[in-house]
Amino acid sequence: MRVAGAFVFALVAHLAAAQIADVDWWKTTTFYQVYPRSFKDTTADGIGDLKGILQKLDHFVDIGIGGVWLSPVFKSPMKDFGYDVSDFRDIDPIFGTMADFENLAKGCKERGLKLVLDFVPNHSSDEHVWFNKSIYKEEPYTDYYTWLDPKGLNESGSPIPPNNWLSVFGGSAWEYNEVREQFYLHQFVAGQPDLNYRNPAVVEEMNDILRFWMDKGADGFRLDAIPHLLEDQSFPDEPLSNDPEFTSDQWGYLSHIYTTDLPELYDVIYGFRDVVDQKQAELGRQMVMMVEAYTSLENTMKYYGSGDRKGAHFPFNFEFVTNVKNETTAAELKQIIDRWQNSLPDGAWSNWVIGNHDRTRVASRFGRDFGLAAVIMGQLLPGSAITYNGEEINMEDTWISWKDTVDPQGCQAGPEYYQKFSRDPVRTPFQWDNSTYAGFTIPDSSKPWLPVNENYKELNLAEQKEMANSPYHIYKKLTALRKERAAVQRGSLTTKTVGDNIFAFTRQVDTEGEKAVLVVVNVDDAEVTADVTSTVPSLRAGEQLTYHVGTLESPYDADEMIAPSSVKVPARGALVFLYTNSATSIAATSLLLLVSTFLALFN
Ligand code: GLC
Repeated sequence: MRVAGAFVFALVAHLAAAQIADVDWWKTTTFYQVYPRSFKDTTADGIGDLKGILQKLDHFVDIGIGGVWLSPVFKSPMKDFGYDVSDFRDIDPIFGTMADFENLAKGCKERGLKLVLDFVPNHSSDEHVWFNKSIYKEEPYTDYYTWLDPKGLNESGSPIPPNNWLSVFGGSAWEYNEVREQFYLHQFVAGQPDLNYRNPAVVEEMNDILRFWMDKGADGFRLDAIPHLLEDQSFPDEPLSNDPEFTSDQWGYLSHIYTTDLPELYDVIYGFRDVVDQKQAELGRQMVMMVEAYTSLENTMKYYGSGDRKGAHFPFNFEFVTNVKNETTAAELKQIIDRWQNSLPDGAWSNWVIGNHDRTRVASRFGRDFGLAAVIMGQLLPGSAITYNGEEINMEDTWISWKDTVDPQGCQAGPEYYQKFSRDPVRTPFQWDNSTYAGFTIPDSSKPWLPVNENYKELNLAEQKEMANSPYHIYKKLTALRKERAAVQRGSLTTKTVGDNIFAFTRQVDTEGEKAVLVVVNVDDAEVTADVTSTVPSLRAGEQLTYHVGTLESPYDADEMIAPSSVKVPARGALVFLYTNSATSIAATSLLLLVSTFLALFN
C-alpha cells in the first residue's frame, strides 16, 4: 500500500514537473542585478525608473543575460534606498506605477528574460501601516515587531535600551517609541523595524506577498539580509568581538551570536520555498529563490535545504566578494574555489557573485585587469553567474565627498569613517555613453542622485561597443560560451596551480565532439610564460589549444592555436582556451565499439 502511495506521489510529482516550462533556466543563465535608482532615468528627476529599465531591455539581450534581478522598487520612504518598504504590494512613485511594472514584466517575457524581485522579509519601513498599528497595539499587529521595555532610566531620565545590541549601520539596534513607551528592534536603520518571525501571522503575511508578485509575473526572488531574521528571545547582551578595527558603536564591535544565524531561521526559508514551489506548480512557470546571507560556509550550505525540505535554489556564493583579496595567491585562489565546491551538498547548484550594490566594485577591489579576470572566472566556473550592473563594462567605484554622501551606512559612520562604510561609490549611475551625465538621464535633467564617475567619457557602453577589444566584447563572448557549451553549463571542474602565480581550471563533459574549456589566471603583477600542459592531461599529444577570449592585454587573437607548453598570461589577466578532450573521444569511441560488438553478437 505504502509502495503504491509512493508511486502515485512520484507520478504526480513527475507530471507536475513535466508541466513546468523551462525548468533549468536558472542553472545555465547569468543573473544581472539592476540597481534601479542608477540604471536609467526617463523622468528627468535624476533617479532611475522602471520605464528606464524597460527602455534598456535590449541591452540585457545583447549582453546575453537571462535573468534580471531588480533591487527593491516597492513603496518606500527611501531611508535605506528601497530596502525599507512601506508597502510590499506597490511600486514607489519614484520608480513608476504598477502599470510600468506590468509593462516591464511583459517586455521581459517577450524577450525570453526572467524577472527576479528583491524580497525584504527581515524588516519593513517605520512608515508601513503594520508598524503604525503596532505602535498603537492594534490587533493583530501588536506583536508584528519586536518590542521590549526599557532596562530603566539613565541619570538624565532617558529610557535605557534593553541590551547592548548594535545596528549593522552603527549605533544601538533599539529605538524608543514615546507612544508605546517601549523600544523596538531595528537591525539596520531606525526606519527599518525588525519583523517578528516568531509570530505566525507575520510569516503568513510575507508568504502572501511572495504569492502576490509571482501572480504579477515575477519569476523568483532574491531574499534580503536573511541571517538577521530571528533573534534570541531571552535578549542577552552580545559578547565583544575584540576586533580592534571597530569602535564601540560600530556593528563589528560585537560578536553577533544572538542576532544572526539562529538555527530556527532555516525553517522559515524552507517555508518560503514551499510557497514558491506551490505557486510554481499552479502557474506552470519555473521560479527561482536566491538567498543573501553573509555567514560561514557551513551556515551558507544550510540554505540549500535539509533532509526532504528544500531551501533556496542557491544561497549567494560571496567567496569572490569576501575572501578573494588583491594579494590572494594562486594556491589560495584554488583553495577558496575548491572549498566552496567541496562544501556543496549533494545535488546542490553552485553560483558565483563578483559584486553587488553593497560592496566595492570588482574593478576597484582588484584593479581593472584582475577585475575582468574575476568576471571571466565567475562566468566559467560551475553554476549560475551573477553580474552587478556595470561589471560588463568594467565600471569602477566613484569617489564621493562627505557632502554628497547619502547612504545611511556612510552617514551614520560620520565624516571620519564614512569612506570605509559608504556604499554610494558602487551605486553611481550606469555609464551608457559620453553625453551629459553619461546618458543616464535625459537632456536638461536634474543632477543625478549620486555623481557620475568622472571617467565616463572614456569608460562607457557606447564607446566599448565601438572598440575592437573592450570589457563589453569580452563579456559577450563569455555569456555566449555559457549558452553554447555543454562544458560550461554542466561540465566537471578540475582546478590546478602552475608555479607560484598561475591558477587554472578546466571544464569538460563526456560527450563526443564537445570541446573542453581551459581558463588560465595569472595573479602576479608581471606577465608569466607558463607551461600549462599538466592542466590539460586529456589534450592529445602534439595538439594545441585554441585561444578564445581573455583580458584586455592578452597577446593572442581569437582562434589562434597555442602550444600548451608556452602560454603567455598577461599580468593580473586571464585567458580562455578551447580544446578537444581526447579522453572523451577515446572513451566515447570505445563505448560505441562496445555497443556495436554487443549488438552484433545478439543479432
Ligand atoms: C541587504 C541589502 C542592503 C540593505 C540591507 C538591509 O544587505 O543588500 O543593501 O541595506 O540588506 O535591508
